[in-house]
Amino acid sequence: MSERKEATAKSAASGAAGVPSFAERVRRAWRRRVWFHELLCLAQRECALPVPPGGEEIGATLVMRRATAADATVWQESWAAKVPWYLERLKSETEFCWLGLVDGRLAVHCWYNRGPYRDPVLKHTFDPGPRGAYFGEGWVHPDFRAGGLATAFNRRIYAEILPAEGIDHVLCYYAADNIPSVKLQARFGFVETGWLHHWRILGRHCFARAAMPAGREQVAKVAARSRAKDPQGIR
Ligand SMILES: CC(C)(COP(=O)(O)OP(=O)(O)OC[C@H]1O[C@@H](n2cnc3c(N)ncnc32)[C@H](O)[C@@H]1OP(=O)(O)O)[C@@H](O)C(=O)NCCC(=O)NCCS
Repeated sequence: MSERKEATAKSAASGAAGVPSFAERVRRAWRRRVWFHELLCLAQRECALPVPPGGEEIGATLVMRRATAADATVWQESWAAKVPWYLERLKSETEFCWLGLVDGRLAVHCWYNRGPYRDPVLKHTFDPGPRGAYFGEGWVHPDFRAGGLATAFNRRIYAEILPAEGIDHVLCYYAADNIPSVKLQARFGFVETGWLHHWRILGRHCFARAAMPAGREQVAKVAARSRAKDPQGIR
């Protein structure tokens, strides 16, 4: 079985397992409300790099377009609570979003920001510099994951769309143990430029939230943990 099919089978199996166990629910509540820590990798990619082959065999027609206010309805299914914030961001001169639709449903989206971007959760500013963009909220609808959609979407984004926007490099961050994201950025030639710690204490309205460069030992520990979960996960 191909790696992608295995990944699909794996996620289907966890869905079939149904409701999360009591222990899992306690673990999630603890992470959400009490104490949360993750290690984030900062990475950069030059748009001049060639895009990797593959990713066309998604078994569906992916329609891509730049988001406008008229897409409020498209976001309703998955992002209803965020629609007002999205519409506000679309008014900005620096932010824009690209959508990918399959059969009229929002299947993938990603946001881009020219110039410095203040992440509202991390309370950290990402500055891509001149002719650069910060990209965030790369997301594929759970119904379409592990089928090559993000790869197909990003191939067009990096080969045609961002160069046409006058952007020649992008920077982003991803959690060191987010295997699909680590693999996706690695496939597109992102180079790691640094690391951040992200702590949240006492939930969303925490009294301490910080980001700072991580030490080498912690980076190695997280990478080893991710490799243990999926030996193919990190290249
Ligand atoms: C990360 C995400 C965008 C990837 O989208 P996707 O359409 O599933 O990605 P693709 O099918 O194109 O696969 C990309 C890579 O991840 C791998 N992958 C995908 N799902 C996987 C899984 N569950 N386990 C292991 N690897 C997986 C693929 O094999 C592929 O690796 P390869 O290029 O070495 O073959 C999607 O999982 C997602 O939306 N996650 C939630 C939001 C998130 O974490 N966003 C990232 C923020 S930076």
